[in-house]
Formats: sequence, structure tokens, C-alpha cells
Amino acid sequence: MNQAVAKADPASAAGKGGAPRHVAIIMDGNGRWAKKRLLPRVAGHKQGVEAARRTVRAAGDLGIEVLTLYAFSSENWRRPASEIGDLMGLLRRFIIDDIDELAEAGVRLRVIGDYRALSPDIVSLIDSAIARTAENSRTTLVIALNYGAQDELVRAIRSFAADAVAGRIDPQTINDADVEARLDTSDLPPLDLLIRTSGEKRLSNFLLWQAAYAELMFVDTLWPDFDRDALAAAIGQFGQRERRFGGL
Ligand code: IPE
Ligand code: IPE
Ligand code: MG
Repeated sequence: MNQAVAKADPASAAGKGGAPRHVAIIMDGNGRWAKKRLLPRVAGHKQGVEAARRTVRAAGDLGIEVLTLYAFSSENWRRPASEIGDLMGLLRRFIIDDIDELAEAGVRLRVIGDYRALSPDIVSLIDSAIARTAENSRTTLVIALNYGAQDELVRAIRSFAADAVAGRIDPQTINDADVEARLDTSDLPPLDLLIRTSGEKRLSNFLLWQAAYAELMFVDTLWPDFDRDALAAAIGQFGQRERRFGGL
């Protein structure tokens, strides 16, 4: 049995979903939430930060081990500069304002995506928040920043190619575990549940590799309206899903 098959046959994980260890959310619909209220888009993003705060707290209370939030995609640079500025400003404020509460609540912060391309002050805020919370173990909050799954795979492929050219690896021996080890999510448990809010039914370049056997959930709720009950409902539904991983 090759490694890919062995991994796709996790006897203990097959069957009813139980409780998800790793939940990821595509936080979508901030702009539409604002538009419905005749408010500027930034008002939706501000309420989106509130929804993220609620969801992080709820995830800890509900026993979710890892919560991954898609905050800024590698394609979101296509938005107007003013909106990108608003989003970066909110990110900066979130880290400054919330780091104490997160640290005290036992949250470990992680970032996936090419976040070093963000402005230097944000990079250093993130780095110090990661260092400060590194020993926490109640919940891991993963923020996807300047994240694109294709970019993540391209970076992994470049590192394989560099190692192959230098004679450090034999391309024929590369297996799926080696690929996973070079993804941004290498130290995280497998993705169990992927939720997208706002009614859109696409992945928008999020966790394409990791979603291979994740349960997908598309809810109509706009992200600023998402709350503890919505998360609890999603977890309840996950528990009813039958997971097969290709087996029976
Ligand atoms: C999600 O809300 C937030 C980010 C992508 C940063 P949107 O800004 O995409 O909201 P809609 O999709 O326009 O409603
Ligand atoms: C996905 O939402 C990215 C984030 C939530 C950060 P988008 O609103 O950018 O996705 P598309 O453009 O509708 O696919
Ligand atoms: Mg959107």
C-alpha cells in the first residue's frame, strides 16, 4: 500500500464526523452586508472583525483545536487601493487591540500565506504576536494573509526544485507527506470542515490541497452576521456527515 492510500484510509477518522479538530472559514460578504445598509464597504469590514472576534472565542469554547480564517487573499490586491488600505488598517488594529485577550485566552497565533510581503510594521506586529503566543495550546488561530493556495503550491514546488537541482533530494522519492511538509499548514492537523459564508459556492484559491477530504459547507449568512450559534450549527451538521475518505 503506498503512502497516499495509507493516508486516505484513516480507519479511526472514517464514519460520522464527530467533532472537527480543524475548521477553516472563508469570511465572505462584508461588502454586501454594508451595501444592504447603504454603508461604505469598510463598515462591513469593521463588523467582519467583530464577527471574527466572536468566532475565535466560540471556537475555543466549542473545543475546536484549530480555526483558520481567510482574511486577505493573494488576489485581493486587485481591489481598489483605498479598500486594501482599510483592510490593512483593520488588521493592524486587530493585532494591537486583541493580542492581550488572545494571549490570555490561551490562543496560539499562526499565519499562513506570504505575509512578509505586507507592510513592515504589520509584519513585525505579526511576528511578535506569533512569538508571544507560541507556547499557548488551548486554540490555534491561523490567519490566512496574502494567502493563495496556488501560490502556496508554487512556493513548495520551487523549494523541491531547488533541493533537486542541488542534489539534496531524488524527485522519484517525493510523496504526498513531503508535499504537506512544505505547505504553510505543515504543522497543523488535517482540515476537517471548510465553511464559506455569503452564499458563494467556490473556494477562491483557499486551501486547495488541504480541502481534499474536508467537508464543505456553504451558508447564506453574510460574514458580519456570523456568530457562536452559526458556528455551533455548522459543527452540529458536520457531526451528521458521513466521511469515507474513499473507503466504504
Ligand atoms: C470578505 O468580504 C472580506 C475580504 C475578502 C477581505 P468581501 O469584501 O469580499 O464582501 P463581498 O463579497 O463584496 O460582499
Ligand atoms: C475570498 O473572498 C477571500 C477572503 C475571504 C479573504 P473574495 O470575496 O475575495 O472571493 P471572490 O473574489 O468572490 O471569489
Ligand atoms: Mg467577497
